[in-house]
Formats: sequence, C-alpha cells, structure tokens
Amino acid sequence: MPHASQPQATPAWQGLALSAAQPLPPLRELLQDSARTLALRAQACGLTLDFSRQRLTPLVLQQLLDLARQQGLADQRDALFAGERINRTEDRAVLHMALRAPAGCHTHPWPADITEQVLAERERMLALAERIRQGHWLGPRRQPITDLVAIGIGGSDLGPRMAVHALQQDTAPAVRVHFVSNPDATALHDVLATLDPLRTGFVVASKTFTTQETLLNAESARHWLQAAGVSDWARQFIAITTAPDKATALGFAPEHTLRFWDWVGGRYSLWSSIGLPLAVAVGREQFEAFLAGAHALDTHFRTAPLAQNLPVLMALLGLWQRNFLNAPTQLVTSYSARLGLLPAYLQQMDMESNGKRVHPDGQPVRVATGPIVWGGLGIDGQHAYYQLLHQGTHRVAIDFIGVRQQASLPDAPPAHAAHLRFNQANLLAQAQALALGRDAQATAASLRAAGLSEAEVQRLTPHRSFDGNVSSNVLWLDALTPFTLGALVALYEHKVFCQAALWQVHAFDQWGVELGKVVAQGLQHSLHTGELPAGVDSATAASLRFLREVPPL
Ligand code: F6P
Repeated sequence: MPHASQPQATPAWQGLALSAAQPLPPLRELLQDSARTLALRAQACGLTLDFSRQRLTPLVLQQLLDLARQQGLADQRDALFAGERINRTEDRAVLHMALRAPAGCHTHPWPADITEQVLAERERMLALAERIRQGHWLGPRRQPITDLVAIGIGGSDLGPRMAVHALQQDTAPAVRVHFVSNPDATALHDVLATLDPLRTGFVVASKTFTTQETLLNAESARHWLQAAGVSDWARQFIAITTAPDKATALGFAPEHTLRFWDWVGGRYSLWSSIGLPLAVAVGREQFEAFLAGAHALDTHFRTAPLAQNLPVLMALLGLWQRNFLNAPTQLVTSYSARLGLLPAYLQQMDMESNGKRVHPDGQPVRVATGPIVWGGLGIDGQHAYYQLLHQGTHRVAIDFIGVRQQASLPDAPPAHAAHLRFNQANLLAQAQALALGRDAQATAASLRAAGLSEAEVQRLTPHRSFDGNVSSNVLWLDALTPFTLGALVALYEHKVFCQAALWQVHAFDQWGVELGKVVAQGLQHSLHTGELPAGVDSATAASLRFLREVPPL
C-alpha cells in the first residue's frame, strides 16, 4: 500500500486552513465571472459536474489538488484497481470494478482469474433472469412465476431497490419485483398480502447468509408457501451469497444459488449476482448497459487527469466543505423522481464506508471524516426542509442532481416537456437563491415597492432577507438511462474511496455495526425467557421488564 500521511500534516492541508481563515469572496461576486463558471465544469460518461457555485478560489482548487498529490491518491487508486489487499482489517482485495468489466477485454489491472469467475457467474445470473422474465420459472402447478420478492437488507437490498425504481420500464413488467428488508412482520405481510403463493418466487440475498433480519424474513416466506400447500419450497427460492455452503445447509438448491466473492463489499455488490432483481426488471441488454456505464466511469477515474477527474473533484469539493467550511452534512437532492431512492443508497455507501475515526495504524483521526448523508426528491424537499437551507444556522453541503433530457412516456399527457422544464427551473432556482441570497437592502426595496409602510419594512426585512453564500454542486445526467445510472453510482463509489484515501481511513470494513448485532441476540433470548443478561445495565433491565409485562397481541 503506498504511503500516505495524516492529512493535517501535509503542506496542502495547512495551506487550505490558511485559505479558509481568510475572508473568501462571496458567491455573489464569484458568480459574476463567466470564464470562471465555464472553467469549473467537468464531464464524463454522460454526466456533467458544474461546481461553479462552490465558494472556491483558484488557489483553493490548487491546494485541494495538491492535497490529492501529497496523499498519494493516484497510487492508492492504482493499488485498488490492481487488486491489492487494501481492506486490511479483513485482509481482502476490493474489486467491485471487476464485476462491471466487459467480456472480451484482457487488459484489466486485476488478476485474470477474477475476470473469468465474474463472467461465468454473470452469465449464470443473466440466464436465470431471462428465464424468469420469459415466464419459464414455474410454480408448483406449472404456472409461471409472476412476482419476485427480494429479501435482503443493507447492501443486499438498497442497490437493487434503488436501481429497479430508477430504471423501471414504462410498459407492464414481465415479472413484478418487490423488496422486503425490515424484519417487522408487517413489512413482509404487506407485500405477500397481494400475491399468489403458487406464482411467487423469492430471492434471498445476503453476502454472509447469517444476517438475522434476512433469515427471519426468508423463514416466514417459506412458511407462507408451506401454509398454501407448497411442499417443495426450495424450487421457489433463489439464494445469492458469498457463502453457498450456508445456503445449502439451510435447504436452498445449489442450482438456484448464485454466488459472489468476499472481495465485493456488501454496499458495492449491486453489480454482482445481487443485481438479479434489476436484471429481472430490465432485462439482459439494459443490465449490461448499466454495467457499461459504471465501467466507463472506472476507466475515466483511472485515466483522467486529477483536475478533470469527476470522482476526485467531487471528493475534494466535499472535503473542502466538510473540513474547512464546517458543513457536517451532505444533502443529495434529486430533481428526477426516479432517482428518489438514490440518497438512501448513498447514505449506506458513504456513511458505512467513511464513518471512521482511526487511521490504518490505529491512531485517532484528528480531522472530521465522513459526512452525514441525507436527502430525497428536490421539489418535495423544497416544500419541507429547504427552509433550513435558506435561513437556518447549519451549513450543509449540497449535490443537486438533475436530468437534461427525458424520454416521453407512452401515455404521457401533452404537458410532458413542461414537467421536465419545471423540475430543471426549480433546481436552478434553488441553486441560485442559495448562492446569491437577497440582502436587506434588496428586501427592503421590494417591500417598499409593494407599498408597505416604513415601519413594516423595518419589521419584516430581517425575516425576509437571505444571507446566501451556500455552496452547491449541480450534477446533470444527459438523461436517466442504464448507462448514466451506472456511471453515477460508480462516480459516488469512487468519490467515497477518494475521500477515505485523503483522510486516511479504511473505507471497506464496517466493524461499527457489529456490537449492536451481538447485543441484540442476547436481548432476544431475554425477551423470550425473561432471564436478564448477566451484568445488564439498569436502563436495559427496566425496559426488558416493561416489555414483558404485556404479551404480544
Ligand atoms: O450490518 C451491516 C451489514 O453488514 C452491511 O454492511 C451489509 O450490507 C448488510 O449488513 C447485509 O449483510 P448481508 O448481505 O451479509 O446479509
């Protein structure tokens, strides 16, 4: 692994700290400069990043790029692609990029046997997906399976769920795809309530095949089939896992078990067999286009100069916001309704990766690391939480996501184009209003023009003025297609990787989520039996007694 130091020790970091301590020109001034605006734009793979609304001088941009060089970002990227075991706390390589490499190319930087395994398993998965789409997967009475319920959680759910929603076809699907992640009984019930057990298939997706939430839902789904008289439940189940032996031990059929590998992190697994629900929803060609978009972005990341490299720029801009402009949260706000699940997907990708507080050598990190990622649909957000962005006291880093073109829908009302333009205008309006604000003088003038008395003007002006100066990125997709969605997801994956490389934290483990799982297992036993765990704290003990005072209804 190439050497990189604690970021705050680099000259570039110290330079950035000095820059941030000086008064920066306000966006109102920076956005007068049209040459600057055009320069702060980068494009690749059907994506355009416009970062002209960042509070950024040429010096700051130079210092950020210097930081990337001083932290050996390019060397760390090359180690990732070469298949070095960079996930050092689990002693694994990190090669989700191999999952989207096209067949027929022999120049990948990772070992050749990886590509062979990937292509063989991809073919198995796509063949199964096509069989399902064509109605050749039959239920117990030899009727085609019409509904597929995908059971999984975290990385085994969020990616396929997001992508199926984003790329849904505008015609009736060959097979309807449903998702269940939460172990509350109502989650599974509410999906199954509408389905026919004789025509429903299940996909149980779990990298480890030990995740309790998923196994509990899978077991209940099996009971649902058996209660309907299905004797051979395994015929209606598919397992997707890196641990096929565990699936076999639970009764899953080997010919219905798809695999992937331990060098694929759960939150980076969408490109593997975990993508089966997406392949069923959109078909082979579109799934391959999705992989192609991600692969194109991989190539861009590997080869483009740092100053034009989309993931590198996104990472550096995020770091500038996080570490120097004191924005602890990252809003991802989409002006394309079909990207509505993207923020939840990115939340896991980023927060599980970079929610870290020690360096690889175990020393504490002295700077802020991964941001809190949140968001949703932009226009809905405007009518809910945008008020805080405009006039609240928090600093928020913002990624606006929009589409330049949208294909018309089969039964679209004539105003189809008006909807697209409405969304685009609102995205631009928010980016502009946040950047420029409206000062007291302009507010007072507009109130006077509306005929208010001077007393009213004075009273209302502070409430109706906006400081502005809120930075944002605007990320345009040429159109939302399988290719651009693949590129967009890969862009964020590599952004997260770059930030980890800059901060020097491990992005590919997630030990933080383990403690709660272990504690929960002990408490389940206590809730069933009433025995308190040894040495339990008083709050948990009181809560256990409180819950056992009433039986389940
Ligand atoms: O608990 C977190 C986590 O380990 C995630 O990293 C992972 O995506 C999710 O659980 C599901 O794990 P699995 O795919 O093994 O069921």
